[in-house]
Amino acid sequence: MSMWTKTTRLALATLCFLAVGAWAQRTKPTTIQSCNQTDCHDQFEMKEYLHGPIALGECTGCHKPDNPAEHTFKFAREGNDLCVNCHLEQTGGKHVHKPLTEGKCTQCHDPHSSDTKGLLVKETVAETCAQCHNVTDHEFLHGPAAVGECSICHNAHSSDEKKLLTMKPTDLCLACHEVTKNEIAKFEFVHEPAKGECAACHDPHGAKNRQMLKSDAPEMCITCHADVHKVATESKVKHDAVMTAGGCLQCHTPHASTVQHNLRKAPMDLCVDCHSKPVGGADNPVPSFTDQIKGKKFPHGPVQDKDCSGCHQTHGSDHFRLLTAEYPAVFYADFAEQNYALCFTCHQKTLVWTEKTEDLTNFRNGERNLHYLHVNKETRGRTCRACHETHASNQPKHIRESVPYGMWNLPLNFKKAETGGSCSPGCHIAKVYDRDKPVDYTAPRVKAATGAAQTQ
Ligand code: HEC
Ligand code: HEC
Ligand code: HEC
Ligand code: HEC
Ligand code: HEC
Ligand code: HEC
Ligand code: HEC
Ligand code: HEC
Ligand code: HEC
Ligand code: HEC
Ligand code: HEC
Ligand code: HEC
Ligand code: HEC
Repeated sequence: MSMWTKTTRLALATLCFLAVGAWAQRTKPTTIQSCNQTDCHDQFEMKEYLHGPIALGECTGCHKPDNPAEHTFKFAREGNDLCVNCHLEQTGGKHVHKPLTEGKCTQCHDPHSSDTKGLLVKETVAETCAQCHNVTDHEFLHGPAAVGECSICHNAHSSDEKKLLTMKPTDLCLACHEVTKNEIAKFEFVHEPAKGECAACHDPHGAKNRQMLKSDAPEMCITCHADVHKVATESKVKHDAVMTAGGCLQCHTPHASTVQHNLRKAPMDLCVDCHSKPVGGADNPVPSFTDQIKGKKFPHGPVQDKDCSGCHQTHGSDHFRLLTAEYPAVFYADFAEQNYALCFTCHQKTLVWTEKTEDLTNFRNGERNLHYLHVNKETRGRTCRACHETHASNQPKHIRESVPYGMWNLPLNFKKAETGGSCSPGCHIAKVYDRDKPVDYTAPRVKAATGAAQTQ
């Protein structure tokens, strides 16, 4: 519109007024007004919005008489040129809307007049667009698209942004969505695609899913996170929470978070949302986690740090109970170091390899390593679970009160002493061990028991 300064526009408006006024009196038709006369081409003026030149009765800007006798006309110019002669710069942006590259201004605009602002050929912008695009045939519609505000987001003519957008894609969405904007600006961990591609997940117009999601979780997420999908579906032990409806979103936020890995809250708090009670079906009952730590004096190091990932692989795992590494599910196991890979990711494996030691473990009688004795057996070695709890316990060194043994909860009756300890388990007669004054297991057992076992 650069060629029409404010003043010339004003002047023009005045002229329009005079011209229309003169026409209304229908006294002395001039050549300019003659085409607009009643019964000739006055239909243009029945509409609310008149095109500038029409208001002036100025037809020749566009129609040049061809054969006056036969009242035929030809266009003053062809295609866009007819219009851009007066309306410069409609196609100035890097990306030009196809109808304009084809010289079809009149696909959207009535050259003479219209009942719609902007001389549109239809009643609304949206209906004008709908001649060629159907973007609103969805169950869940985006507010602005639902009310037909296409031009808030798109420039109908041309734009420097792709898809004729009025702003950079992310700026556009965030210009209205303050809450999302604040999350992305203020939270420490921002999901990569939320930094620039809202439309990777949301259809800006509408979709068959809530929140205009192109697809809902977990389907949406796994289009980009194929690796997680693989773990979740191909692992031997699967986690129900991951691939059920809503899946990933039970633990992750889609845009940004104050917790690493875009988690909704600290990992342990997340897990406890579901694991504060027994879950799983009859074929795989999973006892409550909360019950195992509630009121316990000694939480295991990583549990104290709320670090469940130290031992569990949340999305899926090839090990029993989603563990990150091997750990026997049973009381007895033929000895193999890799059975205990889980514990040995953090603890020294020499614990079960060394027959005699002065410092590797406190579970020894003199120099005799009782870990070696119990665990390192070719057949039916005791697994760590025979003596240790994994999440928390009330006994020092995470010694269990009892351990499930078939239908029986076998008691351990462990007592720790200054330089050793004792137990009176269902496995064998009561035994005492002492690091400084090794117990002689061949001597009568009553004597030995009073020798070292003093409870703390
Ligand atoms: C801004 C350019 C422009 C001006 C000014 C203009 N016209 Fe048109 N006119 C057109 C175009 C373009 C068409 C072809 C419309 C189409 O194909 O849809 C047209 C078509 C027509 C037609 C054919 C029937 C119709 O309505 O489509 C008539 C009659 C007509 N114009 C009369 C006039 C008269 C009378 C004036 C002056 C009062 C006038 N025009 C001013 C651009 C203009
Ligand atoms: C002879 C000059 C001239 C030509 C040629 C011309 N226009 Fe216009 N157009 C005007 C004037 C004058 C105005 C009024 C400007 C204003 O209000 O700021 C106008 C306004 C418009 C508007 C805005 C209406 C509104 O309500 O905001 C549209 C849309 C428009 N013209 C489309 C076209 C199209 C499409 C063509 C080609 C078919 C065309 N014009 C050709 C002079 C022209
Ligand atoms: C795909 C449809 C479409 C085409 C094709 C189109 N326009 Fe528009 N135009 C619009 C819409 C929509 C508006 C904004 C109307 C509103 O929101 O009030 C508009 C507004 C305008 C305006 C007034 C506002 C402004 O931008 O200053 C002018 C002038 C205009 N168009 C000229 C043209 C010209 C000249 C062409 C051809 C070169 C053209 N248009 C082609 C849809 C179109
Ligand atoms: C006369 C038909 C027609 C009308 C009316 C029309 N468009 Fe288009 N539009 C097209 C064509 C053709 C394309 C190019 C499609 C393609 O390349 O696949 C297109 C492409 C687009 C694109 C994509 C541009 C890109 O860079 O990929 C957007 C956005 C768009 N139109 C918005 C609109 C809006 C908004 C309106 C209403 C103001 C509208 N269109 C009206 C024909 C039209
Ligand atoms: C809230 C902003 C917004 C509104 C409102 C909006 N659009 Fe879009 N539209 C977009 C964005 C963003 C894209 C680009 C999507 C992408 O990159 O995948 C787009 C893309 C398009 C495309 C190109 C489609 C394609 O697949 O390339 C068309 C056509 C289109 N819009 C038409 C419309 C029409 C017609 C309306 C009005 C009914 C409308 N839009 C309303 C934001 C909007
Ligand atoms: C012109 C302002 C505006 C723009 C720009 C805009 N939106 Fe919206 N958006 C709204 C409104 C209004 C609602 C409806 C809010 C409601 O119902 O509470 C909405 C709703 C949404 C919703 C659903 C929220 C809910 O609670 O149901 C999503 C998702 C959304 N917009 C994403 C986007 C994306 C992505 C973009 C950029 C392509 C975008 N919006 C651009 C105004 C806008
Ligand atoms: C990785 C996919 C993804 C990306 C990228 C994405 N969103 Fe979302 N968005 C979602 C999901 C999924 C939901 C639904 C959240 C839920 O159910 O908890 C959502 C919800 C929303 C909502 C509703 C309010 C809310 O927070 O729950 C708005 C508004 C929204 N998104 C806007 C945006 C904007 C703006 C962008 C770009 C800056 C964007 N989204 C980028 C997936 C995405
Ligand atoms: C358009 C592709 C895309 C979609 C869709 C997508 N993401 Fe992402 N996501 C990425 C990219 C890129 C990264 C950053 C690189 C990486 O860590 O793989 C990422 C990173 C992540 C991270 C790791 C963050 C971290 O700090 O370790 C999580 C968690 C995540 N996405 C979850 C989701 C969830 C949940 C969904 C579904 C709501 C989803 N993603 C959908 C592309 C996507
Ligand atoms: C039960 C909670 C939970 C669910 C459900 C969940 N995640 Fe995770 N996710 C986590 C935790 C916790 C982490 C942190 C690292 C770890 O523990 O392995 C994580 C890490 C990630 C990471 C970054 C590190 C990596 O492993 O690549 C991505 C990406 C990710 N999740 C994507 C997803 C996707 C996609 C889904 C849905 C298919 C999903 N998550 C479902 C809890 C969950
Ligand atoms: C949305 C609820 C939900 C959340 C959150 C959740 N889980 Fe689960 N989890 C389940 C359900 C249901 C089962 C039982 C069904 C199954 O086998 O997956 C289960 C099973 C398990 C199992 C036993 C798997 C087996 O089959 O032996 C472990 C271990 C587990 N979850 C750990 C975690 C950890 C660690 C977290 C936190 C990072 C967590 N869960 C978060 C619902 C959840
Ligand atoms: C030191 C390793 C370790 C850590 C850390 C750990 N777990 Fe476990 N978890 C295990 C082992 C081993 C099992 C199998 C227990 C069994 O069979 O006695 C298990 C089992 C589970 C189960 C299944 C229920 C059951 O008792 O078999 C859930 C649920 C669970 N853990 C949740 C968690 C949560 C939540 C955290 C983080 C607060 C966590 N775990 C931290 C090792 C660990
Ligand atoms: C992710 C690392 C990690 C894993 C895996 C792990 N632990 Fe631990 N464990 C710790 C930390 C940290 C401590 C506390 C610091 C310490 O005293 O060594 C601890 C302490 C212990 C203690 C008490 C030590 C003491 O002196 O109080 C025992 C017993 C124990 N763990 C047994 C196990 C068993 C059995 C396994 C295998 C099921 C295991 N741990 C797996 C990190 C781990
Ligand atoms: C027969 C019971 C028993 C078995 C089986 C057992 N432990 Fe122990 N463990 C103990 C006792 C008792 C202590 C406490 C020693 C003390 O402090 O007096 C202990 C202490 C520990 C400690 C603390 C450091 C140390 O050695 O003093 C770790 C770590 C540990 N055990 C890991 C394991 C791992 C890993 C396994 C399986 C490979 C395992 N234990 C198997 C009884 C057992």
